[in-house]
Amino acid sequence: MRASHFKGMILISFLTLALIGCDKGKGKSGEQKMQQVKSYEAKDYSHLIGMPGLTETALRLHFSLYQGYVNNTNKLLEEMKTLAEQGMANTPQYAELKRRFSFEFNGMKLHELFFENLGVTPSALSPNSSLYKALEASFGSFDSWQKDFIATAQIRGIGWAVLFYDPSAGRLMNAWINEHHVGLLSQCIPLLVLDVFEHAFIVDYQLDRASYIKAVMQQINWKVVETRFEGKQAM
Ligand SMILES: [Fe+2]
Repeated sequence: MRASHFKGMILISFLTLALIGCDKGKGKSGEQKMQQVKSYEAKDYSHLIGMPGLTETALRLHFSLYQGYVNNTNKLLEEMKTLAEQGMANTPQYAELKRRFSFEFNGMKLHELFFENLGVTPSALSPNSSLYKALEASFGSFDSWQKDFIATAQIRGIGWAVLFYDPSAGRLMNAWINEHHVGLLSQCIPLLVLDVFEHAFIVDYQLDRASYIKAVMQQINWKVVETRFEGKQAM
C-alpha cells in the first residue's frame, strides 16, 4: 500500500468516527427534547401528625386542601392545553384559566414549602450559622427579625408570611403574600413560609391567629430553612 493511500484511509476513518460522534450527540439531544413532562403529585406530610401545636384533624384537613391545589394545577394545565390545541387561546375562557393558574400553582408550592419547614421535633437556628448572621445583618438581631415576621403574619387578610432572600443584595425580607399569588417577590428565594389562611388555624385556635403563630413558630425545622439559604448567598 502506498503511503498516500494509507494516509487517506486514516483520514476517512477519523472523519467516520467524528461523524458517529456527532450523530451520538444529536441522539442525546433528541432524547432530551423527548423527555416526559410529569404531572404534579401531592407529597406525603403525614409524618407531621403528632406535632405539638396542631391537631391531627387540623393537619389532615390541611393536607386535603393541599391535594386540591395539586389536582387543580394539573387540571388547569390540561384544560389550557386542550383549548390551545382547539385554537381557542384568544378566548376569555382561556384568559381566565391563565389568570387562575398562578393561584393554584403557588397554592401548591407554598403549602409544600410550609409543610417542609415544620417539624414534629423542631430544630433551633444556631447563632453561629450563616443564616442567623444574615438575619442580624438585615434586621439588627434575630429577635427583631422574629418580631417583624410575626407582625407580617398578623396582617389582616388571607395569605402567607414569607422570609425571602434576595441574593442580588444579600438582603433578607419578610413579605406578605395575599392569597397565593399577589406579593411574591421576583428572583427572591422563599426561606421560611407560614400559612395564615384561616383554614390553617380555625380548627385548633378558632379566630386566635396569634396563638397559632406562637405555637407554629416553635415547630420550625430550621435545618430546612438553612438548607434553602445555603449556597444562595450573594457573591
Ligand atoms: Fe393552607
